[in-house]
Amino acid sequence: MKNLIFPRKFDQEMIIEWKFWICTSVVVMLIYKIFHSKYFRHVMIALRTPGPKAYPIIGNCSMARESQLTIARLTSAYKLYGPIGRMWFSFLPVFIVFKPEYLQLILGSNNHNEKSFYYKLLHNFIGDGLITSSGEKWRKHRKFLNPIFNINIIEKFIEIFGDSAQNLIKKIKDEDETNVTTLINDGVLDILHESVFGIPADLNKDNSPFRQGKLVASHRVANPWLLFNSIYSMTSNASDEVKQKKRLDDFARDMIQVRREMMKDDDIKTRKPLVDYMLEISKNNSNFNEQDVVDEAVTFMLAGQDSVGASLAFSIALLTKHQDHQSKCYEELNEIFGDDDRLPTMNDLRNMKHLEMCIKEALRLYPAVPLFARCLGADIKCGETILPAGCNVFIFPYAIHRLESIYPEPEKFIPERFSPEQCQDRNPYAYLPFSAGSRNCIGHRFALIEMKVVISSILRNFKLLPVPGKTSIEPVFRITLRAHGGVWVRFEPRNNNVE
Ligand code: HEM
Repeated sequence: MKNLIFPRKFDQEMIIEWKFWICTSVVVMLIYKIFHSKYFRHVMIALRTPGPKAYPIIGNCSMARESQLTIARLTSAYKLYGPIGRMWFSFLPVFIVFKPEYLQLILGSNNHNEKSFYYKLLHNFIGDGLITSSGEKWRKHRKFLNPIFNINIIEKFIEIFGDSAQNLIKKIKDEDETNVTTLINDGVLDILHESVFGIPADLNKDNSPFRQGKLVASHRVANPWLLFNSIYSMTSNASDEVKQKKRLDDFARDMIQVRREMMKDDDIKTRKPLVDYMLEISKNNSNFNEQDVVDEAVTFMLAGQDSVGASLAFSIALLTKHQDHQSKCYEELNEIFGDDDRLPTMNDLRNMKHLEMCIKEALRLYPAVPLFARCLGADIKCGETILPAGCNVFIFPYAIHRLESIYPEPEKFIPERFSPEQCQDRNPYAYLPFSAGSRNCIGHRFALIEMKVVISSILRNFKLLPVPGKTSIEPVFRITLRAHGGVWVRFEPRNNNVE
């Protein structure tokens, strides 16, 4: 009966025909999907955008290995590629925006607050807190945490900054020619231990997990197959990273426990570290729990460490190289303090105007965070180019700070660029050491005050002299900018303050 209705031959032909149509439809649907996908749109726009030469499969990933070349390219990036460039992370296109007016469209809008894929590579380096979080979680946390970085709270940390600077000065005294980077990094870590967790500076913290940790992001970019988590998770670097992350979280959790106990005791009147403020927030808000306190504390420790360390090192290197500006800073300090060796007050710090200009100019030339990135929440029209929603945008302050139209003779150290008169007409998005907009650096005031206290303390005690043969400043491009070969200084005691 069956064979009468569907004869065997007809049956087979039908099946072949059906198979053909199904396959054709799938292929057509796939082609339609690819051509109408976000990815295809990103690729088409990237192909029309200038950028450094890309190689098959790896794209521009080799730039992560060629740090010096990357620095050189960034120095003249605008001249080479214009206001918008592109790079390829293997098959993934990334847009680089250089023009301050376009940066304003991105950083000045809450539509583009999401971070790019790049941040997923950085958890070991910058933690699971504000820097990497997104959406509603980021918005809420940022709202909770903004008030604890207000100037009245930071003012209470001046003593911590000053004590750490005095420790640093004691270590310098006996030394002649010194590579200051290690001394500075130790001092910065002391400051963070005390201001984030309340651990006194004189406690031995050599075993702190924040001294350890390995940077894997650039290694993963340089070897793009490691960008796939399924492959990377099989490597020893990945398991080291997981262990390191656990050490950081455990350390933070232990410290939080200590602070909880101390907070119970009303008689103990120690200075409140940032963790205490966060525990108070957590007590009153169900959507800021203990794990959030751990994540944010670890993020502050990591975000405030190499960034401040590098910025201090570059500022000191530049003041050593430019004796005229060092003298101006010293004269200013003499006017403020005379023979008094007291700690600076907030008012003193406000009066360190020349030093502030020098620090800002150092941050222009050597922005410690040379790259940050966003994922666009909507299309943006930048001149002739449409930057499409969902695309990754990389922002390189190192390049933007060298736009000749904004900073004439960009390689020269000219602190007066940051006088109020000269800043007045400058687009604020042309100066991005701390990023800009609502997702800027939450610790920028903390960092600037810390830097002023440390540098002014050093200058009040020592004249910084160059070490012959070791005067060049060579930035290396890592997650933070580093001074290759360190920063060498000969410290000449000033006769007044040194014991
Ligand atoms: C000179 C020193 C510093 C520099 C140059 C610097 C630079 C930056 C930059 C460029 C960003 C934006 C990153 C991005 O969008 O991906 C940022 C974000 C951030 N920084 Fe800093 N920073 C410094 C010091 C600090 C300090 C001392 C702290 C904390 C104690 C801190 C905590 C943070 C946090 C939590 C964020 C994320 C903010 C958010 O996304 O809401 N930074 N910093």
